[in-house]
Amino acid sequence: MKNYQIFVIKDKNTLQGDWIIPEMENEDGINYLGQDIPKEVFIGKKGTHFLQTSEHGKWVFLGIGTTLKCNEITLAFRSLLHQNKAWFTNGFHLLVPKNWMEEHLEAALVGIFLASYQLDFYKKKKDVVSENTFVIQIATDLNNSEKLILKAKHLAQAQMSVMRMVDLPASEATPTYLANFAVSLTQHPNITTKIIDKEEAKSIGLHAFLSVCQGSEEAPKFIVVDYHPSNAKKHIGLVGKAITFDTGGYNIKTQGMYYMKCDMAGGAAVLGIMEWAALQQLSYRITAVVPACDSMVDQKAYKPSDVISSYAGHSIEITDTDAEGRLILADGITYLLRHFQPEIMIDFATLTGSTVATFGSVCAALFTNNESLQQQLFTAGQHVGEKVWPMPLWNDFDSHLESDVADVKNYSQKPFGGAISAAKFLEYFTENHPSWVHIDIAGVAFVDDAFAKGKHASGYGVTLVKQWLQELE
Ligand code: BES
Ligand code: ZN
Ligand code: ZN
Repeated sequence: MKNYQIFVIKDKNTLQGDWIIPEMENEDGINYLGQDIPKEVFIGKKGTHFLQTSEHGKWVFLGIGTTLKCNEITLAFRSLLHQNKAWFTNGFHLLVPKNWMEEHLEAALVGIFLASYQLDFYKKKKDVVSENTFVIQIATDLNNSEKLILKAKHLAQAQMSVMRMVDLPASEATPTYLANFAVSLTQHPNITTKIIDKEEAKSIGLHAFLSVCQGSEEAPKFIVVDYHPSNAKKHIGLVGKAITFDTGGYNIKTQGMYYMKCDMAGGAAVLGIMEWAALQQLSYRITAVVPACDSMVDQKAYKPSDVISSYAGHSIEITDTDAEGRLILADGITYLLRHFQPEIMIDFATLTGSTVATFGSVCAALFTNNESLQQQLFTAGQHVGEKVWPMPLWNDFDSHLESDVADVKNYSQKPFGGAISAAKFLEYFTENHPSWVHIDIAGVAFVDDAFAKGKHASGYGVTLVKQWLQELE
């Protein structure tokens, strides 16, 4: 993150310096310090801004639209600063409107921090990031601002870690890279990391995970991170799919392979949540399991029609090597159940093309048998704009798993219900855990928007879980 210095000022000398002034939409036009802004130029519509310069500095009026929504405030600030980097090289003043509550200021700050995220990892000529401290002076009457600033910083930092892990190519964001990130989290109090390598995975019997890794030279890592504060209110278990590259295996992908560096976004989200929890010293215990490996084609790779085993001991017929995510998740879920017995278990995974076909990047698909968790996550998602929509786990789909030769098969071989049968497969390994949730993020993790020319990471997941836990209080 850039070097920020943030002050709260009560005394508003609103004429001096550069200012960002958020404005709600007003059809009658906007008046600021006695000056009318021409209505045909700016009335505060969402996604618009108006720049006025004078000898005192710049005033940037930022359109917020007709309602105050946290994710829209974040987006407005992030877009403004991302698109107009040269306007504020050393900082700015932020005039916090009277009707803003704490969460609105927090959302604005998150947008400001996210705007510093850069994709130009490998460019000779990078966007110049000033070495100077970036000074933000916040004019507000809100009392808790210092705490809010830190909260926003932690959330943005964790989200940017997720984005970076997802955006880096598979040659860099390897299982070892993710494992190193997990180890680096142990610099925070109350956090321990265990990395299970290939040898140990073999000796303890993570068979489904190892089958997927079989065709790759890249060392697989089965990552376990435990954040365990002494005042923990509840124990939450997380599992994240981290296929660092998904070629499809022998059922090789003929479409969209270019995007498959994003197939570790579930694992990245889960590691980002751990970073956020540790930074915030949250009062929940959270245990994360992230099976990480490449899925490649090779002499040793697993083949369609192979029958493999799993950590749980169930046999699995491979009907499609491209349905690899559910295999590593199955072992991840079993590991979490056997070693930690969390009260709530949530997995995040870029699991199916079917979810992308259904929802695009509008929302993630949520599967659970627990109605209250469904409701809580739905509400949290609506609030912060990381939406989820409930999908069924009906027994009508049981037949999608039935194999002639093994306990289950990994792909239904049917032209419909792909996201549901994938979820049913995972459910088979949850041992009827009463509070398990599966979130298929295939459409929302890697998106097209105004922040880049091509698809890039959204950082989906950290904000959703933050909001959910906050509302649980
Ligand atoms: N990683 C893919 C799912 C995916 C698709 C993620 C698009 C992000 C964007 C997953 O491993 C996969 O290949 N799923 C297949 C399974 C099918 C072949 C059994 C799918 O859903 O198409
Ligand atoms: Zn696949
Ligand atoms: Zn995949």
